[in-house]
Amino acid sequence: MDEVAVGLGALERTPLFAGLDRERLESVLSVGRRVTIDAGQAVVERGDPGDAMYIMLDGAAEVDVGGRFHRLERGDFFGEMAVLAGKPREATVKAAEPVEALRIPGDEFQAFLAHNPQIASGMLQSLVERLREVQDRLDSWIGGVW
Ligand code: CMP
Repeated sequence: MDEVAVGLGALERTPLFAGLDRERLESVLSVGRRVTIDAGQAVVERGDPGDAMYIMLDGAAEVDVGGRFHRLERGDFFGEMAVLAGKPREATVKAAEPVEALRIPGDEFQAFLAHNPQIASGMLQSLVERLREVQDRLDSWIGGVW
């Protein structure tokens, strides 16, 4: 299988992009650049500027969410928060295994969202889920303290 076919296969398995036709998936691939990250290396670091977002094509990464680790695998995405908010990275994401990912520059990603509102809405849903998970933990922590 050639590189494009592998990339398309991975994007097709990305829930965020479910429902996009082949032409649009190819346009995602064309604005992205494949990157590989060795196990143990940080892909993004908390506090860094958010210049790009990433889609996992292979391997596994971990987000350090206040000492609790959230695992990311093929089809997951990360790095969208700083891009969307224009703020520094919220968390450090490290490769737990060698990672292959599609790196999409922030500007290109914003333009892609503007043309694909259903993707923007899927991304909002996932952002809300991430925030709720953190809120639930905070609530149970505060509940435990009080
Ligand atoms: P960003 O802040 O750009 O860089 C770190 C990334 O980690 C962030 O975007 C999200 O993609 C991801 N992230 C941050 N917090 C969480 C969380 N609570 N659960 C899952 N992923 C998260």
